[in-house]
Amino acid sequence: MAMLSGAADKLLDFTIAPGFSRIGWGARRALGLLDPIKTDLSGRTCVVTGANSGIGLEAVRQLAELGADVVMVGRNPERLEQARASFEGAVRGRALITTEVIDVSSLQSVRAGAARLLESHPQIDVLVNNAGVLLDSRQVSTDGIELTLATNVLGPFLLTELLTPALAAAASERPPARIINVSSGGMYSEAVQLDDLQSARQQWSGSAFYARTKRMQVMLTEYWAAQLADQNIVVHAMHPGWADTPGVESSLPTFHRIVGKALRTPAEGADTITWLAAAQEPARSSGGFWQDRAERPVNRRPGTASAAGDDQRLAAELEALIG
Ligand SMILES: NC(=O)c1ccc[n+]([C@@H]2O[C@H](COP(=O)([O-])OP(=O)(O)OC[C@H]3O[C@@H](n4cnc5c(N)ncnc54)[C@H](OP(=O)(O)O)[C@@H]3O)[C@@H](O)[C@H]2O)c1
Repeated sequence: MAMLSGAADKLLDFTIAPGFSRIGWGARRALGLLDPIKTDLSGRTCVVTGANSGIGLEAVRQLAELGADVVMVGRNPERLEQARASFEGAVRGRALITTEVIDVSSLQSVRAGAARLLESHPQIDVLVNNAGVLLDSRQVSTDGIELTLATNVLGPFLLTELLTPALAAAASERPPARIINVSSGGMYSEAVQLDDLQSARQQWSGSAFYARTKRMQVMLTEYWAAQLADQNIVVHAMHPGWADTPGVESSLPTFHRIVGKALRTPAEGADTITWLAAAQEPARSSGGFWQDRAERPVNRRPGTASAAGDDQRLAAELEALIG
């Protein structure tokens, strides 16, 4: 049965649309590949960015249900507080859910927020870099950086680097600490242009810019996996499939209308985040790219793969942008 379900799982992944949609979720659950997660996370602290909406909100719920204390990170204090309040009396156990306002597209906001987090939470067991945008026009951040790159890559890169001491501190008592980068299956369509990270020489395309940043997240996952191994920090990227979230509805209205009822729920999209944070299997490896609790290929289209050493070059380019 295990061999059969493994083959069926791979077939779903290969065929993209069924695997990414709720069909894939339902089939894998029927095959016994997505049984309820039972790990007790009490005493662990998880930080989730983009926590007031969609997949992030559901990841908070699932982690708190397993007993973890969760810090919800968001850029808008009102939306964040409203989301936190929605959990009052709605989560089993004694998990503590708190908030931290950080605009991840702003380097100044990330620096200030990370300093507050290090003060309030000297040990962080899990960091989920989930906040993300797909824009409909070229915009720049408060630092003058193309906004898709600033939100999806540069801010999370700085936040992760700044929070590493707290992850290492947690790992020294409860190894391993875990970093989870929420990427997208959209990344399969694009290669990263290391000499044009802000896509300044490209004609505007929201989905292409987004796809490149999502591939960068996977490259950074491989980079950090090597960099942080000796501190007992594992790093994974995942993609949620296609989930019906406010973000998808507003940034991809036609896709949202066409795929409609075949979209997963946000909770189904968040499941692999929670599994990567809680299960034993991903604690034993680092640098993987996952969907529905199984490791997936990083490259599917010719001409999109990165070369050896590109992950280090990307990290150096980001360091240079941070200044
Ligand atoms: N849904 C899918 O099918 C799908 C597929 C592939 C990948 N993903 C990825 O999943 C992640 C979550 O997306 P979603 O579908 O749940 O979309 P969503 O409902 O729009 O959630 C995105 C979250 O990111 C936050 N965010 C955006 N910019 C931010 C900033 N500068 N600082 C702090 N927070 C910021 C948003 O906050 P506000 O409410 O303040 O805007 C929101 O909480 C994203 O990384 C996305 O790329 C989703």
